[in-house]
Amino acid sequence: MEVIGQFPLFYFPEYGSAWMMGITGTIHILASHTSVGAAMLFAFLAYKAYKEDRTDLYPYMKKYGMFLLIFSYVIGSITGPGIWYTATAASPRGISALIHNFVWVWATEWVFFVYEVIGVFVLVYFIDKIDKKTHLKLTYTFALASVGTLALIIGIISFMMWPGTEAYYTTGSASDAFFGVNTFPHMFLRIGFMIMMSGVIGLVISSAMKRENPELSAELTKKMGYISLLGGFLTMFFFMWYMGTLPDNAHAVFNISKDSIIQNRIILAAVFSLYFLLAIIKPRFINTTLASAMIAVILLAGLWPGEKLRESMRKPYVAGQYIYSNQIISRDVEGKGIKSELPAIAQKGLLQLNPFVPENLKTVTEKNRLQAGELLTKISCSNCHSLEPTGVFRPMKERLKGMDKSAIKGILYAMGQGAFPYMPKLQLPEHEYDAMAAYLASQNY
Ligand code: HEC
Repeated sequence: MEVIGQFPLFYFPEYGSAWMMGITGTIHILASHTSVGAAMLFAFLAYKAYKEDRTDLYPYMKKYGMFLLIFSYVIGSITGPGIWYTATAASPRGISALIHNFVWVWATEWVFFVYEVIGVFVLVYFIDKIDKKTHLKLTYTFALASVGTLALIIGIISFMMWPGTEAYYTTGSASDAFFGVNTFPHMFLRIGFMIMMSGVIGLVISSAMKRENPELSAELTKKMGYISLLGGFLTMFFFMWYMGTLPDNAHAVFNISKDSIIQNRIILAAVFSLYFLLAIIKPRFINTTLASAMIAVILLAGLWPGEKLRESMRKPYVAGQYIYSNQIISRDVEGKGIKSELPAIAQKGLLQLNPFVPENLKTVTEKNRLQAGELLTKISCSNCHSLEPTGVFRPMKERLKGMDKSAIKGILYAMGQGAFPYMPKLQLPEHEYDAMAAYLASQNY
């Protein structure tokens, strides 16, 4: 029997597996970006402390480091493997594509990461036990290792959006996969955000020192204000460059809600510019509650929609512009010996080719039509749309409102012809279109 290399479907009702990815990813990004940002900040502060003999900066770095250890490193180390588990369940072929392209890049990144973890412990616990010069050198290597983890991961994440060079599809080489047109803008965008986050976290620590040393607290709050403002500016600047390097399908998704996205980003930028200016002009006004609340605002109003957007803009693909979000391979990648599965699916259908379809649903009959249609819909659409009437993730109900079976079939035919650039060009045999349309129509859309 001919089969395609599918995995059992991980179906997450109401929210969709993409939300699970999004939640784990967003928390991880907050933790990982603050730790890399802080590593750069430490290098800057340690340099200042050494050059200007500012011994009063060491206790600040120690406090900051302790916060980082507990907050970023613990949360980051839990959600990092968490992403692996979630992605393996939600998108097994997506993660498989990344491993097959980048296994050595990841292994190298892991070495940098181990150095980073040891480094943060050493910097916190030995800060007052080693001489200043050794401390300075250590902070430099810590910053290099941290930025190294970013530089290595960024090529992998950028590949998910787009290999960015056509050569990859014929050579299949890791460097063609890694260095695409958006790798560097993406990297600088994240560095900008990391600098901003190092200042945002720095504001929590500096405002907490108000009682013990008001002078130093105000000075550092002011500094963190400048650093955050600079980071925020860099983030916006590189975001615009990054947007210019995205593939057409990403723009098609972006344009659907362009106005509201831009509006939200402008409001966010205004709120944070005011906050950072306040830290610069009236440093004593910043307290720990405000500073902590602003981290929550970044998480909920900045990172969460930002990550959802990046995930959306990859549609219809999950990785490399050859694997659709619903785990179907959509083009040949000669260099890797990968063949598109679309022609076989168009001819024989998903029910026949997917090895995890139960025997009693392999052939559509009068009796099992709705059940087969439900399974087909889950396999083909649930990765991007929640199917329950109360679902929250790009709910199918809203998309098919008021349509009867033949109208829904029209949509499916149009999808099969590639009419929607953000959805898979999924051509199925007539009996499978019919079963899906019958099921979708039976849900009272
Ligand atoms: C790879 C992700 C993905 C898959 C798989 C997917 N969709 Fe979509 N769909 C989208 C995106 C993105 C949009 C556009 C944004 C929106 O409507 O929120 C969309 C929009 C739609 C729309 C509104 C079309 C429009 O532009 O007016 C319909 C109808 C729809 N999808 C039906 C389906 C059906 C039926 C399936 C399964 C056969 C499916 N989708 C599978 C991502 C997907």
